[in-house]
Amino acid sequence: MIKQGDITKIYDATNIVDVIGQFVRLRKRGVNYIGLCPFHNEKTPSFNVNTARGIFKCFGCGEGGDAVRFLMKHEHYSYPEALRWLANRYGIQIEEEQASAETLALQNERDAIFHVNEFAQKYFADLLFNDEEGRSIGLSYFKERELTEETIRLWGLGYCKDSWTDFTDNAIKQGYTTESLVKAGLTIEKEDTKKHYDRFRGRVIFPIYSVSGRPLGFTGRVLTSDKTKAKYVNSPESIVYSKGKVLFGLSLAKSHIAKEDLCYLVEGNMDAVMMSQQGVKNVVATSGTALTEEQIRLLKRYTNNVTVLYDGDAAGIHAAFRAIDMFLSQGLKVKIVLFPDNDDPDSFARKHTQDEFQQYIKEQAHDFIIFKTDLLLADAQDDPIKKAALVKEILVSISKIPDTIERAAYIQKCSSILQMKEDMLAKELVKILRIASYKQYKTEQQQEEHTFTENEPSAKLKDIEEPYPDDWQERSIIELLLNYSNTTTRQNVIVDEQGTIEQQRFMTAAYVVSDLINEGIKFDNPVWQVIFEIYHEYIANHNTLPDIKIFTSSENETLRKETTAILVDSDKYELSSQWQGKYNINIPDRFYPDIVDSHIKQTLLYLKWHKLEQRRTKLLADIKAASSEEQTISLLEELNLLTEGLRILRRELHNIAK
Ligand code: UTP
Ligand code: MN
Repeated sequence: MIKQGDITKIYDATNIVDVIGQFVRLRKRGVNYIGLCPFHNEKTPSFNVNTARGIFKCFGCGEGGDAVRFLMKHEHYSYPEALRWLANRYGIQIEEEQASAETLALQNERDAIFHVNEFAQKYFADLLFNDEEGRSIGLSYFKERELTEETIRLWGLGYCKDSWTDFTDNAIKQGYTTESLVKAGLTIEKEDTKKHYDRFRGRVIFPIYSVSGRPLGFTGRVLTSDKTKAKYVNSPESIVYSKGKVLFGLSLAKSHIAKEDLCYLVEGNMDAVMMSQQGVKNVVATSGTALTEEQIRLLKRYTNNVTVLYDGDAAGIHAAFRAIDMFLSQGLKVKIVLFPDNDDPDSFARKHTQDEFQQYIKEQAHDFIIFKTDLLLADAQDDPIKKAALVKEILVSISKIPDTIERAAYIQKCSSILQMKEDMLAKELVKILRIASYKQYKTEQQQEEHTFTENEPSAKLKDIEEPYPDDWQERSIIELLLNYSNTTTRQNVIVDEQGTIEQQRFMTAAYVVSDLINEGIKFDNPVWQVIFEIYHEYIANHNTLPDIKIFTSSENETLRKETTAILVDSDKYELSSQWQGKYNINIPDRFYPDIVDSHIKQTLLYLKWHKLEQRRTKLLADIKAASSEEQTISLLEELNLLTEGLRILRRELHNIAK
């Protein structure tokens, strides 16, 4: 357990923009930062980071919280792990209280896998340099492939001995359990005999790291050309490793990708390693799997420009074609470089100097249209049918681009390359787009039907939505509490029986809370009610205000999401446009003191009005349903009172607006 005092120190030292900036490309927007949300797929940024509050919020998927929460979500850290990461980053010494709680946490399955992976990575890397077999076989293999020691150490490459159980035995000696070794996929358990042996025996090892550089799994390459053995063996899928969700080399490449605003994408691990050695450090590999949307999303955190470097063979071209359309539909700009004569980036890089290599990939990086036309045209030649198919093929790629203007630019380019009329191409494109959008509509409709019938009976949905259909009045009170906690406000109060009015200064939160308590107002939305009660309790019992962290760092997901939304959304545009639209009231900058005061007054009045309106609606229904004359009369009296109250409120609101 980490001591409370240390936790406070960590929180104080944490700079959320710095933390999130390690994983997400952030741009400054006003006092805040925005970027593409790492937790869902998006093309325009709705992920906000608020420096002053130390919180993040995504308006697309609703995720939000503080830096610790971010690390827990993004890096799959436990709470103490996230704190330790921050302590390490900000150079804070932490004293752990008891090791036992720690060990308990380590038994957590995921942690256990990470820990054996960390051990394995170090073990394999150590063998490569310090073991006789490791040096003579592993290290000499890498040297034969012209990797420098510096590169080998940078990538953490290693060697697993050609013995059935050398690694497993050593890991167990170090205290790792067989179970965690098997779960991590480092050790294989034979089904029938239950015997254990090393998955990567006799192979050189490429660790696969998470974005932040923790080993998620491994790839091992055979050293012989023995065709009966798989050239590469990978860690199996586990709760920490999923091959479609990682990009080999990203942890080393990410800062270079962001800096160059470009990523080179290759297929092979060796290609990535060699290119980085040749000075091209903004490179990642798909590791031979078909590119996935998740991988594209990972890349999009750092850049919108990708250059694909694939082998010039049929398989490479096919993979490139597929990758192009995926990149285009995700709104990325893509170029392609092909290598001649059975070369892959690794072999080509080795045959050339750094300069030659870098120049080649710059010069040969072709626009996807030129790439497709060149390839397909060679095949089509003068065959008109084939040429028509080629045009269609290229237009399909263009149709994937989400941006209309960009699409138009490509049509122009295509027209000049293929020597075809632009408007004809444009018409054809419209057809393709129409078919595509119809298809998408169909699938979406099917998905909707599916979810409605199978999982969510519509009655249930109604239940959730009905209690607070329009709760902006309630929400804006919570906004006041969260935003103006430590400001004061001047408000009119009645000071004697004669109704003398005086202006007095209050703590904003205290004024709001006591006003609503006096009026006996309760919130319909349970989330707001909880927040309100917490404020009430702090003010009434402790005479202080709650730390906003108890909301933004709350374990309760709804509480966390709603409060971060409010805090990051500090610009009141949404609210003011609602007010402006509905009541024709202008709301200027509410941080200006005078305006703050009337804003508070107004917000309280709107909530009261809302509550009275609610009661009026109910009353009208009751009057309709009343069973006796007597009852009707008393209800009508109440209605009169209510209507009068509403009139007063309206007048007051009107006065504020003037
Ligand atoms: P390649 O066969 O192109 O290998 O597979 P390579 O990268 O050029 O490797 P070298 O140069 O012969 O050493 C490309 C990638 O596909 C994955 C690996 O990640 C490899 O880097 N792969 C390949 C496998 O996972 N398993 C295999 O059996 C083969
Ligand atoms: Mn190769």
